[in-house]
Amino acid sequence: MNIALRQTEDGSQTLYNKTIDECYHSIHGAKNESNHIFIQSAFLQCNKQDISIFEVGFGTGLNAFLTLLTATKTKQKVHYETVELYPVPSDFYSNFNYATTKEEQSIFKKLHCSEWNRTEEITSNFSLLKHLGDIKNLELKNHFDIVYFDAFSPEKQPDMWNKCIFEKLYNAMNQGAILTTYCAKGVVRRTLQEVGFVVERLAGPIGKREILRATKR
Ligand SMILES: C[S@@+](CC[C@H](N)C(=O)[O-])C[C@H]1O[C@@H](n2cnc3c(N)ncnc32)[C@H](O)[C@@H]1O
Repeated sequence: MNIALRQTEDGSQTLYNKTIDECYHSIHGAKNESNHIFIQSAFLQCNKQDISIFEVGFGTGLNAFLTLLTATKTKQKVHYETVELYPVPSDFYSNFNYATTKEEQSIFKKLHCSEWNRTEEITSNFSLLKHLGDIKNLELKNHFDIVYFDAFSPEKQPDMWNKCIFEKLYNAMNQGAILTTYCAKGVVRRTLQEVGFVVERLAGPIGKREILRATKR
């Protein structure tokens, strides 16, 4: 894989994909961005005791990791499903600086080492199912309360932002479920609306004016 490790402005790391010339996270802060868009604007908005989450693009595992840590604090049970076409090699994920304790490091490693295409218990309140493959070919069998839409940008990967994919996600979401994404482009907002979502523009993290939150009413 043509990737390199990059430091972001909050001290947390990200990956840079040289082929498409894009980072996995904001250079203004990977952890900060993930916390803002996925934890604060989605996960912490759901007060169900048992939450099902689907993430588009497992990548570094940062969103799954922060969700697991937050769910431990809020004492919620999470079933987390994700899909990844290009898994990050172990020489990268073994060196990310996301964990702050030895225990966290071992949990982070478990997220990456868990088998593909099989549900695994990572902790007593967090199960993980990582689908290996292309989201376009994935049949979603569960129903989700939250979707983290974290694909590469529409400029670099326009086929990830089309109606077909959003429709697939919409159909796999519960009523009242929410999808958040860092991309606030008008064309993305309109596609989400066409599919049936009610879309809000929210303030973005540092370096980004707005993000989107779409609700299935
Ligand atoms: C912007 S990165 C974010 C990754 C991850 N959420 C993170 O925090 O590191 C987008 C991810 O989508 C993955 N991806 C690209 N095309 C895909 C596809 N067709 N199906 C599934 N995943 C894909 C990439 O390999 C990459 O890991």
